[in-house]
Amino acid sequence: MYSFKNDYSEGAHPRILNALVESNLVQEEGYGEDRFSQKAMELIKERMGRTDVDIHFLSGGTQTNLTALSAFLRPHEAAIAVSTGHILGHETGAIEATGHKILSIEAEDGKLTPSGVKAVLDAHIDEHMVKPKLVYISNSTEIGSIYKRSELKQLSDFCRENNLLLYMDGARLGSALCSKENDLQLSDLPVLVDAFYIGGTKNGALIGEALVICRDSLKEDFRYHLKQKGAMLAKGRLLGIQFLELFRDNLFFDLAMHANKMAEMLIDGLNQANIKFLTPSPSNQIFPVLPNALITELESKYAFHIWEKVDSEHSAIRLVTSWATKEEMVEAFIEDIRK
Ligand SMILES: Cc1ncc(COP(=O)(O)O)c(C=O)c1O
Repeated sequence: MYSFKNDYSEGAHPRILNALVESNLVQEEGYGEDRFSQKAMELIKERMGRTDVDIHFLSGGTQTNLTALSAFLRPHEAAIAVSTGHILGHETGAIEATGHKILSIEAEDGKLTPSGVKAVLDAHIDEHMVKPKLVYISNSTEIGSIYKRSELKQLSDFCRENNLLLYMDGARLGSALCSKENDLQLSDLPVLVDAFYIGGTKNGALIGEALVICRDSLKEDFRYHLKQKGAMLAKGRLLGIQFLELFRDNLFFDLAMHANKMAEMLIDGLNQANIKFLTPSPSNQIFPVLPNALITELESKYAFHIWEKVDSEHSAIRLVTSWATKEEMVEAFIEDIRK
């Protein structure tokens, strides 16, 4: 059985494991004040060409989203997200449990637009309702689409004009930035968004996300929020060592490029077999629509999610590739489809 279920089905890239082993007996400060974490922050800042951002390492995506959003919002303020947004459908109400409503917008391609956000603002006019304050987007999105620079710029301009915060969930930022269709640079993000995170867990790290806070007013006391939410690890070095290895050279991007290359191979193979897709997705998650009988056959050899029913005879499945996906298994999958 070979899994295309996720990009966290494997452990960590061997270089990251080696870095953890090699540093094992080095004594360090706790709670993210170790030299590995400090160096990793420096390298990420260098990569963005910015020294004026704050970086914090957290262990997972849900934890990062809930710690950040609850710190950034006042009690009566709400977040806005597309209906497919991860914080809405897949985080067990973690944001709501911190006391903040999430206002939902339908978007076929998984991306938020200024007009969608405006519709929410127009419907929330006074203190009898929550006050929309933060726009949550993910890049890549839940359905594998990515934001073009112009789209992000429009959204960013709209947020600034309307005194809204723009937050980007980058659980799969590596794949988004390395997509053939991408025209955004890592260095564009601190200019366009107020905070974002660089996902390590889904891009070769054992665990870990790097939250980048760009707007000054959001930086104050963030370590208090981290600690109060149980996100400040005594052995914070575990996260720092991994990000140090990912950003020491081009490893973070090389791993994302491999994941994307495997997804592109799948797309090419499926296109050649005249398979259609539920939605175009130029990143490491793809959604081919297959006959149900074929899905049942494939399930005996491969693991994947059945995403949604398309009609009585067809369903869309989700295939996810990772930094560790084996090319020969992609070829085998395509061959099985051809047969
Ligand atoms: C876009 C996005 N954000 C956040 C998360 C949550 O990450 P975790 O499962 O580490 O809490 C995921 C996980 O699938 C995700 O895809």
